Amino acid sequence: MKDKYKKIWELALPYQDKRDDKGHAKIVTEYTFELCQIEKANEIVAVAAAILHDIGWSKLSQEERLNIFGSKITPEAEYEIRLKHQNESVKLAKKILNTAKYPIIYFKDIFEIISEHDTREGFLSSEDGVMRDADKLWRYSQKGFQADLSRNNFTFDFLYNKMLKNIDRKNYFCFDSARDIARQELENRRREFSE
Ligand SMILES: [Fe+2]
Ligand SMILES: [Fe+2]
Repeated sequence: MKDKYKKIWELALPYQDKRDDKGHAKIVTEYTFELCQIEKANEIVAVAAAILHDIGWSKLSQEERLNIFGSKITPEAEYEIRLKHQNESVKLAKKILNTAKYPIIYFKDIFEIISEHDTREGFLSSEDGVMRDADKLWRYSQKGFQADLSRNNFTFDFLYNKMLKNIDRKNYFCFDSARDIARQELENRRREFSE
C-alpha cells in the first residue's frame, strides 16, 4: 500500500472487521483501488473512505453489531443501527485523518461518502460509486461469500442466485465494471464449490 494510505490503515486497524467479517476492510480497500483505476475516480478520497467506512462498528455493542443479521430485528431498528455505525465511523475517521495529517481539503468528500455509505439511495460521485461498489463486492469475494453462507445457513445455490439477481438490481452497483467483477467472482465461487 502506498505510504500516504499506510498511516491511516495502521491507525484504523484496531477498529476494523468488528462484525465477524475478518478481511472486510482489506478486501473493500483492494477493490476500491482496482475500481479507481478503471473508473478514473480520485483515489485520495475513495481509498480513505474505504479504509474508514466501517470503523464505527467498533463503537457499537456486540448485540447491535451482530443482531443486524438476525431475523428478529425490525426494519426500523436495523435502520437505526446502520445510521449509528455510519455516524460513529465519521467521528473516528475525523480523529484518524487529523492524526495522520491527511490533506484537509478531502475531508468533506470522505465524510460525505462514509456518512451514508449504507443508507444512501443512488450515488453522489465516482468516488462514492467505487467505494460502495467495492463494499458490495466483498459479498462476492471468497471470504465474504463464505461468511454469508455460514452465518445465514444458506445453501450454495440459494446464495449464488440471490447474489446473481442483485447484480442487475437498480442502484445496487454504480458501475458496469463492478458488475463484471461480481459476475467473474460468482463464477469463481461456483468453480470452488464444484471442486
Ligand atoms: Fe457499513
Ligand atoms: Fe462495509
